[in-house]
Amino acid sequence: MTLYHFSELDSTNAECRRRLNAEDRFFVVADVQTAGRGRHGKSFYSPLGGLYMSYAFHPSEGAVSAVGITTYAAVAVTDAIEEITEIRCGVKWINDLFLEGKKVCGILAEAVDEGVILGIGINLVPAAVPDELHSVVGWLGRPDIRDPLAEAIARRLLDYRPGDISHMNAYRSRSIVLGKRVRYPWAGGEREGLAVEIDDSGALHVEGACGRDVLRAGEISLSGIS
Ligand code: BTN
Repeated sequence: MTLYHFSELDSTNAECRRRLNAEDRFFVVADVQTAGRGRHGKSFYSPLGGLYMSYAFHPSEGAVSAVGITTYAAVAVTDAIEEITEIRCGVKWINDLFLEGKKVCGILAEAVDEGVILGIGINLVPAAVPDELHSVVGWLGRPDIRDPLAEAIARRLLDYRPGDISHMNAYRSRSIVLGKRVRYPWAGGEREGLAVEIDDSGALHVEGACGRDVLRAGEISLSGIS
């Protein structure tokens, strides 16, 4: 396993991209990120004390679905956390891990010309988070597990085979969304309904006043958590 460790980086995903032309199947970990990236162009606050890691590879068999690898990673990370700490996180569709109503981990898959980059950020300890994140951010409370956790996650990611959907039952079983009322952006507005299914493609099916909507991407909100 090739794993590069840095005390500080702009972003582990960015570092993977710089290396991906020349290398395949490697990991990058940083103690701190100065320009951590989140989904939808947001930044990902990455102070000392968290685990910030990325995995980069060249897909050998055709196109890799961002949803496929993201759902795989959500299962891989929840399993790795449970193996090491016995803490069981839940998955908020599509790829946020929650503990006691707070987000403890975000996952960002990027398909670039050079290959696929999967970034994972896990809050291990409480940090001085910006005010607007106070009600949202949680942590595992285990600063001591960073290196074994990175190793346990990496082991699982190396087993990923594009197109394989055998992790989807595990993904569904960790969902904190199924059976709950959710709000979601739809056709320029917002809709609300009951989350009834996550199919094998990772799409979320929601039953509402207008029938069934099938969500393939985007952010949803659950009452009580964002
Ligand atoms: C999200 O919740 O919006 C996704 C956050 C992904 C953050 C991780 S931290 C390691 C990797 N490097 C980045 O710049 N982003 C990802």
